[in-house]
Amino acid sequence: MAQSALAAPALLLHGGNLPGGESVSAADTLQERLAFDVHRPQYHFLPKANWVNDPNGPIFWKGYCHLFYQYSSTIFPQGPKYWGHARSKDMVHWEHLPMALAPTPGGPDKDGCWSGSAFINEGVPTLIYTGVLPQVQCLATSDDDMTTWKKFSGNPVVGSPPDEPAVTGFRDPSIWREDDSWLMTVGAGFQGKGGAVFLYSSRNLAHWDYLGPLFTAPPFERRDSARMPKYEPIGAGDMWECPDFFPLGQKHVLLVSSQGRVHYFVGTYSHRKFLAETQGLIDGCGLHYASKTFADGRGRRILWGWIREGRSKAAQNSAGWSGAISLPRVLSLASDGTLRMEPLPELAQLRGRRHRIMNSEVTGLLPVSGVRGSSLEIQLTLDPGEAKECGITVRRSPDAAEETVISYNAATQDIVLSGAHSSLSPEAIGGTYRTPLSLQSGELLRLTVFLDASVVEVFANGQACLTGRTYPTRSDSLEVGVFSREGRARVKSLEAFEMKAISRDRLTK
Ligand code: FRU
Repeated sequence: MAQSALAAPALLLHGGNLPGGESVSAADTLQERLAFDVHRPQYHFLPKANWVNDPNGPIFWKGYCHLFYQYSSTIFPQGPKYWGHARSKDMVHWEHLPMALAPTPGGPDKDGCWSGSAFINEGVPTLIYTGVLPQVQCLATSDDDMTTWKKFSGNPVVGSPPDEPAVTGFRDPSIWREDDSWLMTVGAGFQGKGGAVFLYSSRNLAHWDYLGPLFTAPPFERRDSARMPKYEPIGAGDMWECPDFFPLGQKHVLLVSSQGRVHYFVGTYSHRKFLAETQGLIDGCGLHYASKTFADGRGRRILWGWIREGRSKAAQNSAGWSGAISLPRVLSLASDGTLRMEPLPELAQLRGRRHRIMNSEVTGLLPVSGVRGSSLEIQLTLDPGEAKECGITVRRSPDAAEETVISYNAATQDIVLSGAHSSLSPEAIGGTYRTPLSLQSGELLRLTVFLDASVVEVFANGQACLTGRTYPTRSDSLEVGVFSREGRARVKSLEAFEMKAISRDRLTK
């Protein structure tokens, strides 16, 4: 699809290809503003401007990893969704490409091209995605190495949900090949009962047979319906968005997004049914959503998610951008059948100056002198000893008026990310999030913390992740400290790296 097909309001930037009526100087000003915005990440992927949500259709093709994403040219209120597109040789440095999909007036995606997947069909790059309204499944193909995309003339290929009672939604297809058929999952659910993933098969991609639910389950947590002003299927857990289903080791993994979080199930797939054995969360915070995975050229299973903002709608609108794509995580299975997640090793190429501390006792706060900044990777190995709580404080002002705290609580066996004091701005939401992490007696706490402007991504012992946002108002909110409460802890080692930007202009061009 040609870029000029995208009639877009004032904030859309396309490398000098300005839509009609927009003055070059206005766009320059926005681009400059974004390039110097202290809250805009330097090494996370995000579009040139405006709104991003779900990662869509990650795929390897001719030496590049292609990543698509849900894009809107306005922030609030949101416009119809497009598929943005970028590519990378290393999953770290990205190059923007023309929009892949835009709504076709009068077509089955006239109100938006929602999430989906990419695959190669007999050598032809193909996208499968949800058109709205109503929710239907559509195809598009490329015959020029993914530069432009043509929609299938027979769209929609699935024009309505199956004949099941009280279906809550029907979207976000993912697809794989099995014997001589294509298999497709679609996110769905049943009102009042819980979420579901519907399974379809096809031999020719144009005609699909419904095989029944691949998997269903009751809502993850009961919500007190009295506190919910009005029934909403995703909030209630009765609609599963963005299912992603893939083999990992000897097992299969199903991801679904609902109730603000990405839930995973590990289990067995046979006779086109999935039986879950263990389950957990991809991220304990509500700010990582709609995860999507793919198998890279080396057989690794890589996961991306959408990092939401943690500030008011007005603040997002005035910033001119909203959302980012998470750092890629490499997935594996632990011996107890739970999922392990580690940052992509290739990110290490962004490491600059290194600081190191070894073997220091901590009681109260231990400031880490020499390590400051908003663009850091910190690797902390801490022996919690007898401390009730211990961890690391980042983006801290010297008087602690602002700080973002990541702690391990020995009594509750939780990792906690507290943004309660991360910003003095009333626009920042500053939530506190926790996720389970059980350490055996004597086991060390191993935290990897990525700070990238307003993004904080935490990996704890490869087992638990927390993603937060921090919008400090003060230019000196850059300090780092290690702390313990009610007992002594010991820093076994702390290594911090200043991280390099992945582009000179924060990907605004
Ligand atoms: C998840 C989601 C998907 C949908 C897309 C629309 O965040 O709601 O279910 O396809 O976003 O942008």
